[in-house]
Amino acid sequence: MTGLPAVASAGGLFDSGIDVNDFENDGAPDDEKYWKNIAHKYYDVSKDYINLENGFYGIQPKPVLQAFQKNVLLANREGARFARRVYPDMSTAIKKELAGFLTVEPEEIIITRNATEALNIAIQGYPFKEGDEVLINQLDYFSMIEAFRLLEKRGKIKVNAFDMPLLPANEDEIVELYSKMITQKTKVILLTHVSNINGLIVPVKKISAMAKQKGIDTITDSAHAIGQVPFSLPALDSDFVGMNLHKWIGNPIGAGVLYIKKERIKEMNVLFGDVNTAEDNITKLAHFGTTPFAVIMTIPDSLAFHKLMGIEKKSKRLHYLKSIWVNELKQFDKVEILTPADLSCAIASFRIRDKKTADIADVLFKQHNILTVGRSLGNDGCIRVTPGIYISAEEINKFVIAIKKIVA
Ligand SMILES: Cc1ncc(COP(=O)(O)O)c(C=O)c1O
Repeated sequence: MTGLPAVASAGGLFDSGIDVNDFENDGAPDDEKYWKNIAHKYYDVSKDYINLENGFYGIQPKPVLQAFQKNVLLANREGARFARRVYPDMSTAIKKELAGFLTVEPEEIIITRNATEALNIAIQGYPFKEGDEVLINQLDYFSMIEAFRLLEKRGKIKVNAFDMPLLPANEDEIVELYSKMITQKTKVILLTHVSNINGLIVPVKKISAMAKQKGIDTITDSAHAIGQVPFSLPALDSDFVGMNLHKWIGNPIGAGVLYIKKERIKEMNVLFGDVNTAEDNITKLAHFGTTPFAVIMTIPDSLAFHKLMGIEKKSKRLHYLKSIWVNELKQFDKVEILTPADLSCAIASFRIRDKKTADIADVLFKQHNILTVGRSLGNDGCIRVTPGIYISAEEINKFVIAIKKIVA
């Protein structure tokens, strides 16, 4: 058993029983032996139900959880001596490491509690002028819609909402739709990189490039994209991006990131009172008070484990698990798949024509021990299904069998 290379956490705590050989094979998406070994060795999850609701938050891999536990103990035992004398340098190093992972400058990110906080700072801090309009759609995350609606209620902007087709044929159809919905007054487009409702992946880069040509900014919600699908943050071409680390990166809950392109920081208004920090310093947006030390200290560990697993392998495996059930169930007339298989990764949603979504989720849970979640979507809602990396093809097949029984 070997450890990972030293990371910037509280003294190389990531030393807990990782065998790098476990991660060295191809890890093909359908290699059940490979993925079962990872699940068995590195994830401690309840065996008495099948969790297909990993869209809520990610399970910390065991080594990350152990590092977190050590960090909690350390912060508690050492108290203010640690917080005053050790943590400031440590948090600077962690931010640097996180920026390196995101391939941006440390001066372009702040660490927040979650994606909602990150995106509220961007949305409420954006320098809107009277008459500005914002473009959103029904697949955007409700908290970001609320943030824009709040600004509208305060008379600052007008919100224009359109219906995104659930099954766009390709990326260009999505770009064209955004392009058509833009008005003379559109100033900002909210882009939900991976929808929490049906898992649709939108082509952020193409939409941002199209918008930029018209002088329009995109504020991108990558809460579900980071760690689930491969992307380069700078290449998104979006100057404002909010993310979290507790869904697909596997960090303990309570860490998000806001990225703002360096030259845009100056114009941003602060949400949390701050009059002393320089206008072009991103920390003017991060006047948060006491932050959860142990959660932040664990970021290097969760990043290290995520990198060890590899985003390409992870993403392809998640896509494969989704494809198993989508391909099986799409053959049934009564089942309506609400996600384009090629424009999604782990998350997909469905409806059963003559059944209420809440009832389906209930039957799945109470009769089959399978947890999914109902989401609001149009009049009928939908059931969202989200496997995690520790879920097996066998468990997905149990879900397929359960649905076949429900529609029989
Ligand atoms: C698309 C999307 N954006 C933002 C969020 C909010 O993330 P957080 O809970 O980290 O604030 C979620 C959470 O589910 C989400 O799905």
